[in-house]
Amino acid sequence: MGTASNPKTARKANGKVALITGAAKRVGAAIAECLHTHGYSVLIHYNHSSTEARALVDKFNQIRPNSAHCLQADLNHMDQIPALAIAAQNHWGRLDLLVNNASAFYPTPLTESTQAQWDNLINSNLRAPYFLCSELSHTLSVNKGCIINMIDIHAQRGLPGHPIYSIAKAGLEMMTKSLAKELAPNVRVNGVSPGAILWPEVELSDDAKQAIVDKTLIGKLGQDSDLAEAVYYLANANYVTGQILAVDGGKSLYSH
Ligand SMILES: NC(=O)c1ccc[n+]([C@@H]2O[C@H](COP(=O)([O-])OP(=O)(O)OC[C@H]3O[C@@H](n4cnc5c(N)ncnc54)[C@H](OP(=O)(O)O)[C@@H]3O)[C@@H](O)[C@H]2O)c1
Repeated sequence: MGTASNPKTARKANGKVALITGAAKRVGAAIAECLHTHGYSVLIHYNHSSTEARALVDKFNQIRPNSAHCLQADLNHMDQIPALAIAAQNHWGRLDLLVNNASAFYPTPLTESTQAQWDNLINSNLRAPYFLCSELSHTLSVNKGCIINMIDIHAQRGLPGHPIYSIAKAGLEMMTKSLAKELAPNVRVNGVSPGAILWPEVELSDDAKQAIVDKTLIGKLGQDSDLAEAVYYLANANYVTGQILAVDGGKSLYSH
């Protein structure tokens, strides 16, 4: 874990504070940008993407000084989770919103799966969000805050060739509903389930991409801003908890 803040030097935030995991680039960065545009101070968590995280922080701080900060942690390491939670709470002395966005994603055909893949996919997509919620539940409760988990429509039906990832996201879906009960009434817990929004960093063929788009009702790929706006909606939806909002162009209704 890097860049832990000292509680004695905690700054004051102007307004609400959000911690977004895996936010240096792609969807996480779009969520951070949307929240920042709406006045949040943002804590950009990253693991390897330090250059992108620092560039994002600089960009946000140029728009509004002292409105962004980055924190490094490998969420596969249990001991780095409390350290991340402490650094997040201490940086501005408050926390209102946790977005569990960080995720490992790659295929694991059943007979070729390894224990290392199991640990990596389950830990980043499920164990880390659970223990981060646990570590931050008190501070979120003080501020009547909320938690938003980035799930996947395949949590419901399993993505072929990706059983471990699908199991992890199914767990994250149940975690969302379970923690909504555990943390009520002070902390709301919701999820956003993306369909096809940004292509994964591993290459897909044009035919494979078109086959995915063909299974949406809206007939096109979504945008990271569609997910960010869903997160912002849930962050403000004061009477909504334990819900999972699919942002998938209707893909989860497709019949085959
Ligand atoms: N993109 C889509 O169309 C889509 C579809 C369905 C669901 N989703 C979900 O939406 C969320 C965002 O999607 P995305 O495509 O933007 O995600 P992504 O690029 O695959 O991953 C986001 C970040 O997760 C971080 N991460 C992975 N393992 C980590 C670990 N062990 N410790 C700390 N950080 C770790 C990485 O940070 P570093 O780069 O700093 O290492 C990475 O940049 C994810 O939860 C994903 O499952 C996305």
